[in-house]
Parts: sequence; structure tokens; C-alpha cells
Amino acid sequence: MLDASQASRARFITFEGGEGVGKSTQVKRLLANLANAAIDAVRTREPGGTAKAEAVRSFILQGRSESWGPGGEAVLFAAARLNHVNELIAPNLAAGRWVISDRFHDSTRAYQGLTGGVDDKLIVALETLALDGHGPDLTIMLDMDPEIAFKRVAQRAIEDGLALTGDRFEKEDIDWHKRLRASFLAIARDNPDRCVVISAEQSEDALEAAIWSVVSAKFPELAGRARA
Ligand code: TYD
Repeated sequence: MLDASQASRARFITFEGGEGVGKSTQVKRLLANLANAAIDAVRTREPGGTAKAEAVRSFILQGRSESWGPGGEAVLFAAARLNHVNELIAPNLAAGRWVISDRFHDSTRAYQGLTGGVDDKLIVALETLALDGHGPDLTIMLDMDPEIAFKRVAQRAIEDGLALTGDRFEKEDIDWHKRLRASFLAIARDNPDRCVVISAEQSEDALEAAIWSVVSAKFPELAGRARA
């Protein structure tokens, strides 16, 4: 039997993965599917989500934090996260709205920790401080060979008529991105109850369906509810 409070508790879902794996599209599609299943949900992203965290985002992505080193950048991401949790994530969950975030704490662990070499003790301390108990109920890790992801990013830039400049992390080399991929997979292996790895090397429609089956299997309150 489902406990009534369990059934109605708002859920927190995060999407993680390397560059160009198609997270943003899938976050939007999940929101549409949840709306169709009569679930009230908000979409957010990291770094960002609140005015203060968006200010930290532009500082970092413009490359202005690079000289701080990975440890300094981990602290900056955590400062943005602390505000994001306090001002957006916790209040929405408390109000009964599901929260879907494009990246969250696993990105700090993967980019700055496992790939950037920041000591695990600092990563754990920052997680404890910034999350304050508000960890995700489910993390969807979108996995893709970085060689394929790079081609997709380049193709998208051509289609959008944009120059492929590369922000703070997009300009790292392919070996770095391979280590990043391994880092996310290691996090998923260490957290099997929370993380599900899904191959992003499939069509957007097939990926959307795979994500919906994971989400609806994880949360019993979605059983029998329709997808868009
Ligand atoms: P963004 O343009 O949102 O990239 P993506 O579309 O791949 O999510 O830029 C966010 C960048 O910041 C991305 O390169 C990942 C990186 N990042 C970290 O290094 N640590 C973090 O904790 C977070 C949240 C993001």
C-alpha cells in the first residue's frame, strides 16, 4: 500500500552528463510529459536558477573564474547552489511542485572533483553545505561518446548560424571530455539507488520514451498516467 504522504510528496529530479548530450531538450520534454500527467513541475538549471546564481553563472562561463583553479570554481558553483536551493528548490518542493534541474551537485563532483582533481573532502563539505538535505530523488545521467557529442555541438552551431567559440568548459580537449564521461559513470556506479544511466546515442523521441519509463517506474504515483 502506498502511504498517502509518500504518494503526494513533490519529487526532485536532476539531469547530468557531458557537453552536447541533449539534456536541455529532454528536460523540456519531461516537463511536458509531467504536465500531461497532471504533475505541477518547475524547470531550472545550474549554474543558475535564481538571479544571484545566474550572476555567478555569467562570471564563470565568461572564463573569469579560471584563474581561481578548480577548487575556487567548486566553491563558486556551491555558492550559487546554496542560493538556488534556498530560494527556488526548497520552496517549490515545500509547495508541492516537482523540481527538474538541468545539472546539479553531480556536475561539481564530476567537473571539479573527479576530472578537475579537487579533493573529495572539499567536494563532500560543499555538498553538505549547499544541499542542506535537499538531494535529488532521481538523477538521469545522459551518456554519450564525446566524439559524437562534439559533432552534434558543431552541427547545432552551424544550424543556428553561431560561431563555435566554446565557453569555459566546452573548450577543453577530447581526452578531458573522455575523463569527464568516466567521472559521471563512476558517480552513477557509486549511487545506484539514485542514478540511472541512459544512452543519449539514440533519437530524441526514443530517449524521451526511455526517460519517461525510468521516471514512471521510480515514482509509483505516476503509474497509469499518460505521457504527452
Ligand atoms: P551550460 O552552457 O549550461 O552547459 P550545458 O549545456 O552542457 O549544461 O554551462 C554549464 C557549464 O558549467 C558546463 O560546462 C558544466 C559546468 N559546470 C561545472 O563545471 N560545475 C558545476 O557544478 C556545474 C553546475 C556546471
